[in-house]
Amino acid sequence: MKRRKIFAGNWKMNKDRSSAVALAREVAAGLPAGFDGDVMLFPPFPFLTEVVEAVSNAAHAIGIGAQNMHYEKSGALTGEVSADMVLSTGARWVLLGHSERRHIFGETDPMIGKKIKTALREGLSPIFCVGEKLEERKAGDTGAVVLRQLRIGLEGLTTEEIVRVVVAYEPVWAIGTGINATPAQAQETHRAIRSEIAKLASPMVAENFRILYGGSVAPANVKELLVEPDIDGVLVGGASLEAGKFLAICNYK
Ligand code: PGA
Repeated sequence: MKRRKIFAGNWKMNKDRSSAVALAREVAAGLPAGFDGDVMLFPPFPFLTEVVEAVSNAAHAIGIGAQNMHYEKSGALTGEVSADMVLSTGARWVLLGHSERRHIFGETDPMIGKKIKTALREGLSPIFCVGEKLEERKAGDTGAVVLRQLRIGLEGLTTEEIVRVVVAYEPVWAIGTGINATPAQAQETHRAIRSEIAKLASPMVAENFRILYGGSVAPANVKELLVEPDIDGVLVGGASLEAGKFLAICNYK
């Protein structure tokens, strides 16, 4: 089974209205005819609607998503955004459990699990991020940490729901540091994630399940990562802020 590669750009808290729209247009215009992959952009909340519009007529469909959402439908939750609100912008994807949400904003595994469930039930497709910290890797706990995050995040989901999830493995020590995991390190964790999906859902679901790598992905290292058998795409932060670099990653072949 050939899994279609995903190229996702996480813009984090960057860009203003006009540069966000311009970047989305440049990415859309720069994909070659017949491009064989799924491209997704994750702008800040206030620009979602305009970025959706900016790519609506793109020759190659581009998915747009939010960088976070709350699991409640509505209420006294100042500063939060619901799945419905994200959907109303035209976005269809959402990043959940990003390490900056976990480590700067204190999001826990159970909280992320609730968000994943809500996203799926409301009609958003999640990119669910997992990854170990440097001290956890040094202690030999990478597998245990990542699989714990995965199991709690997917707890209580039906097989039909698991099918709609994309997982991104992002070692915390590789994010924004310029130090990417070696292809072999990433492959080892991706394989462990796929085996766990086979147990949680089924071997067939695992075979079709897409697992992205994220953490200092750049034009110079994308190819060696994507040739690994269990790496099905990339979640790109810094290098997604410039159309030229992001397009070079999409065109890695
Ligand atoms: P980076 O970020 O590519 O800048 O390391 C990746 C991410 O945080 O998703």
